[in-house]
Amino acid sequence: MVIVDSGDLLNEDEEVSDSVIKSAKLKAELIAEVFTSIGIDAVEVGELDLALGINNLKDLQKKYNFPFVCANLVDKKNVPIFKRYIIKKVNGKNVGIFGIIGDTSEMAAKVKEITKDAASVTDPLAAATAVMKELTGKVDYVVALTHQGTNRDWVIARRVPGIDLVVGGHDQQKTKDPNEADKTLIVQAGVKGQYLGMMEVTLGATKTSKNTLFALGDDVPNDPKIKARISKYNDDVASLYNTPGAGATTQPAAADVKLSLNACEMCHADQVAKWKTTDHAKAYDTLVKKTKQFDPSCLKCHTTRYEQPEGFSMKLQQMELVNVQCESCHGFRKQHITDLKPAAQKVKIALCITCHTADRCPTFEKDEQKVMEKIKHWK
Ligand code: HEC
Ligand code: HEC
Ligand code: HEC
Ligand code: HEC
Repeated sequence: MVIVDSGDLLNEDEEVSDSVIKSAKLKAELIAEVFTSIGIDAVEVGELDLALGINNLKDLQKKYNFPFVCANLVDKKNVPIFKRYIIKKVNGKNVGIFGIIGDTSEMAAKVKEITKDAASVTDPLAAATAVMKELTGKVDYVVALTHQGTNRDWVIARRVPGIDLVVGGHDQQKTKDPNEADKTLIVQAGVKGQYLGMMEVTLGATKTSKNTLFALGDDVPNDPKIKARISKYNDDVASLYNTPGAGATTQPAAADVKLSLNACEMCHADQVAKWKTTDHAKAYDTLVKKTKQFDPSCLKCHTTRYEQPEGFSMKLQQMELVNVQCESCHGFRKQHITDLKPAAQKVKIALCITCHTADRCPTFEKDEQKVMEKIKHWK
């Protein structure tokens, strides 16, 4: 068996601000440790992984022997930063696995910016062709782990002969039936560990392939060891933000806290009363129940105006700004409280889906009428 991942495994945010870098690193470490323990063989580097900093990725590589591969990510001297490929023997056959990160101007610029010029992306087709030359004659099967999107996966499959399987990423597709580009199959297994893709291959006189996508839902039991490791991570993150040193004090019970929407109540009592009946009013409690109330990667959607000026901040942990309050949708209204002027813009569904992302709420936009009805507090 070969276990792979095609990138953005360790981090999901484009920017890792100073206030969250510590917990982002703890999370990356958790994932690296867990994936190492299940025997992962190769991991392509995604641009979001790079947001943690090259040195941090190199530390993880060293500490866990974590198998990053990428054939076209180079340092200032044009030297590849990670292994370009690996070869693994499986049931007597050699499997070559190489990594490719996309070079669209957007992605290349992002990599340069994120890594402060420490890394740049070279031409994927040239890098893949060079790897294939070295692998020819040495391997029986070739997997390209790509982080560039499906359109480009088609291009690499067509233009670089000899690749058997492209395991793609970046554009968050899930392919039950593999795409077939001549002799090359192209697959992707969705996002956020919601699915596991399994490709069974037999090599012999004839080659056969069978792809299965497993949904990793609640019916799949948790591994007790991994679950315990995740609990430890939750505790570590909590102690990171729950110590006076980090700027926070011991937290009062959520019920005793005056929320900042109290400032709206004297004039908008009906709206406040309605809000209290919605799930937005218990978004923080939901995290408390999971011991996740200190995890920045959860608080950003379960608090009000996360890390915006005068919004909820990791450093200050302002209890009055927990939950998805009025200002999550209506914006900062300090001025309005005195001038009573209406906002320039109405709240649209486009704002909702910054939190109700497609992976969490796949039909949210389509269900606009229904979801708006659930929170309706306007005429
Ligand atoms: C700041 C992030 C954020 C924004 C913006 C946001 N929501 Fe939510 N919403 C949440 C969270 C978090 C929950 C889950 C709360 C819980 O149960 O703990 C939720 C739950 C809901 C629910 C109940 C669960 C469901 O899917 O039926 C509805 C309905 C809903 N939101 C509608 C909306 C609508 C409509 C908008 C835009 C007008 C919106 N939300 C904007 C974060 C947000
Ligand atoms: C990008 C925004 C976003 C982030 C980040 C986020 N959530 Fe949520 N969460 C939502 C929204 C929106 C909902 C409501 C829709 C739904 O129920 O799926 C929700 C719902 C939930 C629910 C279900 C509540 C119920 O009704 O039972 C739980 C539990 C939850 N979130 C926990 C977490 C945890 C733990 C994290 C961090 C690991 C997290 N969330 C990070 C947006 C987010
Ligand atoms: C002192 C009274 C008062 C307070 C306090 C107040 N508002 Fe208002 N608000 C008004 C009045 C009056 C209007 C109607 C303005 C109009 O229709 O021209 C209004 C209209 C609105 C509207 C609809 C127009 C728009 O801007 O989209 C929203 C949303 C709103 N308020 C949000 C809030 C929020 C959020 C708070 C708390 C942070 C708040 N208001 C606090 C008096 C108040
Ligand atoms: C999840 C997003 C969301 C939250 C949270 C939210 N609103 Fe709204 N609000 C909307 C939407 C959507 C509308 C309708 C479009 C518009 O007027 O912008 C609206 C409309 C309004 C209006 C205009 C009412 C009218 O009849 O025209 C007021 C006033 C208002 N909200 C006040 C509040 C107050 C006060 C809170 C906090 C208790 C709050 N809202 C919380 C999304 C939200």
